[in-house]
Amino acid sequence: MEDAVFSKGLDGVVVARSEICQVDGINGKLYYRGYPIEDLAAHSTFEETTYLLLNEHLPTKDELTEFQARMRRSRSLDPHIRSMIKNFPPDGKCMELLQSVVSYLSGYVEHKIHHSATCDCRITLHQIVQLTSVVATYQRFKEGKQYVEPDMELSHGGNFLYMLRGTKPEPHEAEIMDRALVIHAEHELNASTFTARVVASTLSTCYSSISAAIGALSGSLHGGANEDVLKMIDEIGSAENVDAWFADAIAKKKKIPGMGHRVYVAKDPRAYIMEEDLKTLSGKRNDFRNYDILKKLEALSAPVLGKKEHHIYANVDFFSGSVFQLLGIPPQLFTPIFAMGRVSGWLAHILEQRKDNRIYRPASIYEGPAPRGYSAMETR
Ligand SMILES: CC(C)(COP(=O)(O)OP(=O)(O)OC[C@H]1O[C@@H](n2cnc3c(N)ncnc32)[C@H](O)[C@@H]1OP(=O)(O)O)[C@@H](O)C(=O)NCCC(=O)NCCS
Repeated sequence: MEDAVFSKGLDGVVVARSEICQVDGINGKLYYRGYPIEDLAAHSTFEETTYLLLNEHLPTKDELTEFQARMRRSRSLDPHIRSMIKNFPPDGKCMELLQSVVSYLSGYVEHKIHHSATCDCRITLHQIVQLTSVVATYQRFKEGKQYVEPDMELSHGGNFLYMLRGTKPEPHEAEIMDRALVIHAEHELNASTFTARVVASTLSTCYSSISAAIGALSGSLHGGANEDVLKMIDEIGSAENVDAWFADAIAKKKKIPGMGHRVYVAKDPRAYIMEEDLKTLSGKRNDFRNYDILKKLEALSAPVLGKKEHHIYANVDFFSGSVFQLLGIPPQLFTPIFAMGRVSGWLAHILEQRKDNRIYRPASIYEGPAPRGYSAMETR
């Protein structure tokens, strides 16, 4: 242990070799299994991207048809799961519900197959598909509405909007929702993905690994900046107020939500994609308030925060909250939506961890008391 290097938060420590995702923070590029995120966002679907992440290659037509059918068969929620959601306290957090539902779901799959460390979570695709149905149903029950049976014809994202609203989304809405899941599906070794790999490394099941990953994502340092961006937009009010708001924020050294990233020192490639979708939706709704505020803020901040020593540019959260808002999704579902997408990446990492496993066991530096004798109660 003498030579061990201390790195708080494992900063800069390499703990795995991976073939799943490459983040090029300097050039603002993101690749899933070598494919640029821009291509996947333009041409793929969440179902196809999930296939790619889990199976290491893009599917043939037949492979995709079979996989898509398997994913869609898992959409419907068992009555027990529905009653679990219904009985969840109304002010309980959706992320906590999700964590419990994933563990609970493991009881509904054949024991021999799925309750071992070698269980192949690609068979039922339960965790991936049902998370989406659970999030939609959680919100409906919260609003005192009925459960909506899934629509097997719609894309994964389109069906989420359908199960949430009870009416079919417009094709452009379904496409934008599905794309949001594609771009959230994977992002290398962030805290929740690392958590999934740590739990998988003990040879625990994919259900407990995913449940733990959801727990990690529910912390405010991981998900949630898109909600803060919406609060900031409301505080600013309109595009005319951006100059004054920005000058004040800089003078007070405030952090601008949705800006900056630990890895990207350029604009997050996913932010460009979300920005385009926000523009499209704003046009369809004839409501450019959020878009105009964000674009003006981005333009003002580039010469100030983007300068050499800072490298602060928009991240995916800068635009995503406004996209979800225009899709009629309440802010409390933003982090659960992140989980709905990222679950594909978590599963890919769990499978990869198992292929060349070693249990994670880092070390700590002991700074507690020196060894001492047990003190009897009457002497304390
Ligand atoms: C994402 C984030 C945590 C990255 O943090 P980081 O890499 O550790 O960077 P730091 O927090 O150390 O910031 C480095 C410098 O940039 C500044 N900075 C970072 N993000 C900033 C922001 N969003 N607005 C204004 N200034 C910012 C810091 O104040 C600091 O300035 P200083 O060197 O003069 O003190 C940080 O940029 C942030 O808090 N962003 C806002 C929240 C957000 O959008 N989170 C979602 C990320 S996907």
